[in-house]
Amino acid sequence: MSDMYERICREYEAFSPRSGKAAVAARDVFPGGDTRSSAHFAPYPLFIEKAAGAYLHDIDGHQLVDFMNNFTSLIHGHAQPDVVLAVNEQMARGSAYAAPTDSQVLLAQLLRDHVPGIEQLRFCSSGSEATLMAIRCARAATRRQKIMKMEGGYHGSYEMAEVSLAPMAELAGDIASPTPVPIDDSFPSSVLADTIVCPYNEPDLARRLIAHHAHELAAVIVEPVLGSMGMVPATREFLATLREATESHDIPLIFDEVITLRLGDLGAQQLHGITPDLTAMGKIIGGGLPIGAIGGKRELMRRFHPDQPRPVMHASTFSGNPISMAAGLAAMQRFDQQKRTTIDGLGERLRNGFNKAFQDTGIRGQAIGMGSLCNIHLTDEYISNARVSLAASRRAGRALRCIHLGMLMRGVVSAARLMYCVSTVMTAADIDVAVSALKDTLLDLRDDLRREKPTLLY
Ligand SMILES: Cc1ncc(COP(=O)(O)O)c(C=O)c1O
Repeated sequence: MSDMYERICREYEAFSPRSGKAAVAARDVFPGGDTRSSAHFAPYPLFIEKAAGAYLHDIDGHQLVDFMNNFTSLIHGHAQPDVVLAVNEQMARGSAYAAPTDSQVLLAQLLRDHVPGIEQLRFCSSGSEATLMAIRCARAATRRQKIMKMEGGYHGSYEMAEVSLAPMAELAGDIASPTPVPIDDSFPSSVLADTIVCPYNEPDLARRLIAHHAHELAAVIVEPVLGSMGMVPATREFLATLREATESHDIPLIFDEVITLRLGDLGAQQLHGITPDLTAMGKIIGGGLPIGAIGGKRELMRRFHPDQPRPVMHASTFSGNPISMAAGLAAMQRFDQQKRTTIDGLGERLRNGFNKAFQDTGIRGQAIGMGSLCNIHLTDEYISNARVSLAASRRAGRALRCIHLGMLMRGVVSAARLMYCVSTVMTAADIDVAVSALKDTLLDLRDDLRREKPTLLY
């Protein structure tokens, strides 16, 4: 048992008694008090009463700077006035029609005009559905079955999207040909048999794996920044190799830009100048409401065309619902070049500030990421792939949780895995609050770390 963790949990419970009490009631109706795996953490998450702009207000009366932004989906923070207005106006005119609306076409045009890989698109209700429909489109087009995904890559809440998401080192196999590993006990073996796992940022290994499996691959899917492994950016060389290898074997390349659409103008594909065949989107394009979209080349997207003899079936009750369309349109119309440049600059300020906090306190750690995306890792090794990231977080153990809770108690919200993202309503002052919170947290933990995790200190 970690004394440091016990101490921090006691302090956190004293900091948030109402949330603690609410968690007891939640445990009665939800297993473990949790209805969303990614938003849960021990001893319990803070219950939120309201939010506006860059700030959350919890039920114990704290105002907290929100660097989580619902896992990167709130590009303008909370309750952006134009988004609120658009949603209210649409709500008064009805929330869902099972019929097309002008707002669908306007949001689709905006995305098509900005994302290089999109000639046509379709809306759906989540990023999970977007990656799933991209995979189905690729399967229908190629009549092949297997999918190559990256080790450590997350593409949503279904089995194939989570193969080898966080494999234990002893199960992961040789890096030249990683073993497909299920994340839990719910996986059918057919899913594992149909998934080829590729190491991230290893261009030569990827080229070889693609060549070896080319005859059976329906698609290669990749996140341009490996989000769940702690915002590990792909090198341009790696993405270019995937593009070249898939093109030469006639395999559709899918970019999962559910997180990275906020980069560039719009998307990591634009930033790197590498155009995939299909793109999955979500998060920011819904202005804070549930959404997803899949887009790409006309020749692939025509698989959904209703006049096809056997169109890819995609029904989905809330696809293109007018509330998400209204919110998404209002948010995306306001996400202009100037705002994109500003949040990228603030993201850099955040990473630099965090890195300096580690240096100043003599603790081994670093902040990595790209643009407005940032993640803390407790190692000073170069993090290029899932294996390095997972090994570091397993070594750090509860130190990561202590930093997360310590930052919360200092008014800074992040994902429990120490992921931070900047929204357009944040200022340099908000960034500096986060940097100070990290430094104070590290100073508070340093003696405990020296005792419990001496390898984390220089
Ligand atoms: C890269 C990536 N793809 C897909 C998804 C799934 O999106 P959703 O949670 O909207 O289903 C996520 C969610 O976090 C994601 O990060």
